[in-house]
Amino acid sequence: MFLGNDTLEIKDKVVHIDGYNVIELAEKFGTPLYVMSEEQIKINAERYFKAFKDYKKDFILAYAYKANSNLAITRLLTKLGCGADVVSGGELYIAKLSKVDNDKIVFNGNCKTKEEIVMGVESEIRAFNVDSISELIMINETAKELGKVANVAFRVNPDINPKTHPKISTGLKKSKFGLPLDLAKKAIKMALEMENVNFVGIHCHIGSQITDVSPFIEETRKMMEFIVELKNEGIEVRDLNLGGGLGVPYYKDKEIPTVEDYAKAIINTIYEFEDKVEIPNLILEPGRSIVATAGYLITKVHHIKETSCKWVMVDAGMNDMLRPAMYEAYHHIINAKVKGEKEVVSVAGGLCESSDIFGKDRELDKVEVGDTIIIFDVGAYGISMANNYNARGRPRMILTSKKGVYIIRERETYADLISKDLIPPHLL
Ligand SMILES: Cc1ncc(COP(=O)(O)O)c(C=O)c1O
Repeated sequence: MFLGNDTLEIKDKVVHIDGYNVIELAEKFGTPLYVMSEEQIKINAERYFKAFKDYKKDFILAYAYKANSNLAITRLLTKLGCGADVVSGGELYIAKLSKVDNDKIVFNGNCKTKEEIVMGVESEIRAFNVDSISELIMINETAKELGKVANVAFRVNPDINPKTHPKISTGLKKSKFGLPLDLAKKAIKMALEMENVNFVGIHCHIGSQITDVSPFIEETRKMMEFIVELKNEGIEVRDLNLGGGLGVPYYKDKEIPTVEDYAKAIINTIYEFEDKVEIPNLILEPGRSIVATAGYLITKVHHIKETSCKWVMVDAGMNDMLRPAMYEAYHHIINAKVKGEKEVVSVAGGLCESSDIFGKDRELDKVEVGDTIIIFDVGAYGISMANNYNARGRPRMILTSKKGVYIIRERETYADLISKDLIPPHLL
């Protein structure tokens, strides 16, 4: 019915997610409300495992925690067989609580602190994806202090245009991430001389929400050529970590490449090099394509006014879901109740920002005060980017599954909002 939302259906003129009536969920759990579909997450993750099952070496699906690091979600993904791509001590902490195998954890980021490096070294993770020579030196020194040897891979900047939004492009020459090939080679040679690091692989990431397979092919080919070049200098590469996130169908009328198309493109490109070099283990680090389409933001209409357009004012806001305000991102929006009659409306949140608009001039089933509105595909970079702007508590999140409905994150209270604030004695 809607591209990417396999577990949503309309029954008795009301939208149901995993079989649950959305209007009833809104009444029971309050709004704004994040709903995560366990069934959709399973479908999305299993698509990856199926598409890569015949890969000739080890395959690790290191779910990118930044997309949604709610404990119930990360634990579910561990149970489905995923590893973790973490970018902070906090995400590593959550990965460990989610019982991810250390050997399936990769640590990304361009500014790891000493404290974070200590955590990664002590956890004996699969690899730090090292972003600079300065970081390499810090990892080697830290591992020495701890009497350990840390696995390191290097983040290479391939200078590839991922054809996505500039704010989510990560592998262009001017990007802050990674090392150009010549500097990466220098860093690898330095690592090979160091006593407390073990060189294991190369990593690359070109951007997010990529809806064309050609940048992935270009990236894979560039990395495999680099691996051959290293082999010719006697350096073996165990792991190839290919980042760059496959897009999701935010626009419901636009087909985009499937996980199968993406897998075929990557695997075939790697195999082109089979007679030149040993095929490396493959690590992918998708976030968005695993959880985005599993998430819905359910919000209630409190006011309607007709000025330059018909405004529908809802109780969710840009603090709950930042993507439209931050990236001008499109998220599909519908009325949870099918009424037959359609109208064009603009859906806005209640924050004091003109950019607090979820959708301008959208065709929805006729909207009245009290209606329940569904904002689609918010499972990735939704709750994880939510904040307390305008002193608004972050929303409750529930998980719908065949087993039942569960609260997986509580709504923040007014007391939560000030729980970290302190008043100095002279102001008491
Ligand atoms: C290094 C790295 N890995 C993984 C991801 C996750 O990408 P996506 O959510 O598009 O799959 C990102 C997102 O930008 C990233 O920068």
